[in-house]
Amino acid sequence: MNILAIETSCDETAAAVTVDGRTVLSNIVFSQTDAHAVFGGVVPEIASRLHVESISQIVARAVDEAGISRTGIDAVAVTAAPGLIGALLTGLSFAKSAAYALGVPLVPVHHIRAHVAANYIAFPELEPPFSCLMVSGGHTLFCDVPDYCEVDMLGASRDDAAGEAFDKVARRLGLPYPGGREMDALASLADPQAKSYTLPRPVFADNALDCSFSGLKTSVINLLNTFEQRGEEPDRALLCRSFNEAVIDILVPRALAAAKSRGRRVLAAAGGVAANSHLRRALAEACEKNGLELRLPPVALCGDNAAMVACEGYYAYKKGVRGGLCQNAFAVREADAELQ
Ligand code: KG4
Ligand code: ZN
Repeated sequence: MNILAIETSCDETAAAVTVDGRTVLSNIVFSQTDAHAVFGGVVPEIASRLHVESISQIVARAVDEAGISRTGIDAVAVTAAPGLIGALLTGLSFAKSAAYALGVPLVPVHHIRAHVAANYIAFPELEPPFSCLMVSGGHTLFCDVPDYCEVDMLGASRDDAAGEAFDKVARRLGLPYPGGREMDALASLADPQAKSYTLPRPVFADNALDCSFSGLKTSVINLLNTFEQRGEEPDRALLCRSFNEAVIDILVPRALAAAKSRGRRVLAAAGGVAANSHLRRALAEACEKNGLELRLPPVALCGDNAAMVACEGYYAYKKGVRGGLCQNAFAVREADAELQ
């Protein structure tokens, strides 16, 4: 079954075609990063406008590169939640028109479940149940995946997402947007002998699987302000390494605990922050030590893309999920019920 998928939840305009969910025929991602970089973050209105400008070319390229004719498309999947509402509506409107014009079903897809589904593409043998650490610019979730299209949240950040904290700290350090990748690279340049800066690793007594990044972010900013007031220069590479270490100390034990709490043997990762080289190493070491099998998708499948939407769309289609011309988009994570 050939699925054309569209993803426009944030600042990537993406389209892909997959066969039976897991075989990728094309996966086109147009990143708007340059347009947002001057503002130090995504400007929702600009994101929507750029999606409008580029969506038809990106979809046409995805279909061309897939080497199929338009009549070879069996369904159109589209991210309908969560995300920036204007950005989501652009992709959804295009997808509705395409599905209507082609006379094929429309399948609305939940973006977080699509990130998890990136693992099905990367690991053709992978089947639920498994555990998943989902870390992106908008979400930090410790999940259980009991079945296809099902994602139970066992814990989450109560404030900033991990990627958001990376981006905000990076901005304060004067690094270009999106800062996560820059901080990852700079951290690798720190003197291995140097002692890390002291940064907090908050815990919540009422749910050990919940976490927080806002205090960690503020601590770094306060530290930088103190350096500035003293007229001193911080060791930026060391600061990036220290921040990475704190993020790892927050994420990894919770991801392992989430897997353990449901008796899962496999831990997968998903989302843009799962591209972080230090986190990937730490997860590999921790899983090895704890007898868990780790599934780390390649970096290109961690960030936003439409192949993961096509994959999730395939399994959602098989479960009977359909969207009509009245299908709406939802900005919030709790839109599960709206996408059945
Ligand atoms: O999944 P994604 O592409 O979009 C959302 O759904 O949010 O994730 C984007 C986030 C950004 O915050 C970006 O800074 C972060 O992923 N990111 C990284 C790295 N690469 C991307 N964070 C840390 N280290 C990286 N190497
Ligand atoms: Zn995403």
